[in-house]
Amino acid sequence: MTSLHAREPRRVPLANQPTRGHWMRYGDDATRIWIKRDDHTGSELMGNKVRKLEYLMAEAVGEGATHVITCGGEQSNHARATAFAATQLGLKSVLILRTDDPEKPPPPTGNILLDRLVGAELVWISRRAWRDRNRLLAEQADRVRAAGGVPYIVPEGGSNALGSWGYIRAMRELADDLAGIASPEAPVTVVYACGSGGTGAGLILGAKLFGLAERGIRVAGVNVCDDRPYFVDAIMRICDEAEGRWQLGCNVTADDIDIVDGHVGIGYAKSRPEELATIRDVCRSDGIVLDPVYTGKAFHGVVCELRANPGRFGKTVAFIHTGGMFGLFADPDTVATVL
Ligand SMILES: Cc1ncc(COP(=O)(O)O)c(C=O)c1O
Repeated sequence: MTSLHAREPRRVPLANQPTRGHWMRYGDDATRIWIKRDDHTGSELMGNKVRKLEYLMAEAVGEGATHVITCGGEQSNHARATAFAATQLGLKSVLILRTDDPEKPPPPTGNILLDRLVGAELVWISRRAWRDRNRLLAEQADRVRAAGGVPYIVPEGGSNALGSWGYIRAMRELADDLAGIASPEAPVTVVYACGSGGTGAGLILGAKLFGLAERGIRVAGVNVCDDRPYFVDAIMRICDEAEGRWQLGCNVTADDIDIVDGHVGIGYAKSRPEELATIRDVCRSDGIVLDPVYTGKAFHGVVCELRANPGRFGKTVAFIHTGGMFGLFADPDTVATVL
């Protein structure tokens, strides 16, 4: 890809991109579903996080960091991707992970196994302490500094204005992917799983920067936690931060942020049988593995929305598979109940 934008920050190449797409067999003819395989951005680095980390790690390296510090849920894909990106660039990583009982950390399954394998330093904290995560990140940074290191803090989910460039860049790929598919007469909605807002912010900024609404390309996020007002606010904040830093002239407003609420189900990272059944069915129709926490829930949300209103997303859904497969191996017994 040629230069993305005159104000694009420095980027360190970590992801396999552009990712390919394919038309899914799953579904009916009323709305066709095309899927962008961002689960192929890497193996250890799989998923959406590595696109953000290309920019965040470039800043870390530029500042001479020796340690990268971040936080997330116990099976955080973001934390795992950050740990591997750090190691691949010769840095150390500290992961602050939220769990029920920090005195009894969870077993090494899924992403935790990989975190430990790559030698990340894990700091377990309770759900209550999580509210103070920014202070805890700062404390870890002080600790690294006191030991003579140079810390770099990556925010939760890699979701800040700098990280959002990863999905501004992905939106440029999507503009090429969807050429000949999207038009004002045959609109396409790019649908993504929304967990902390950074992917959404990047896609929305990208759509604005490259004038994609005029080409019939819209963007909608299915939230897998919290609710619509929470994410409109979170995404607006990231877009405003980007505007303040790079004066992109995107003028994102709340009206640009389409959050498809109502599909969190029984809670973040908790699966209902119908969501797991959708993961199974997609695997059996297309040979594609969705994850239980993000992409499976979001895809199930798309299926439910289409059932209720086949025109909800226009003529075509362009679903971004943002990765997360290791989460499937966190609790295989629950997944196996639908097999
Ligand atoms: C697999 C996967 N998909 C989607 C998301 C959501 O992305 P974001 O945090 O940018 O909203 C995440 C992380 O939160 C993720 O790990």
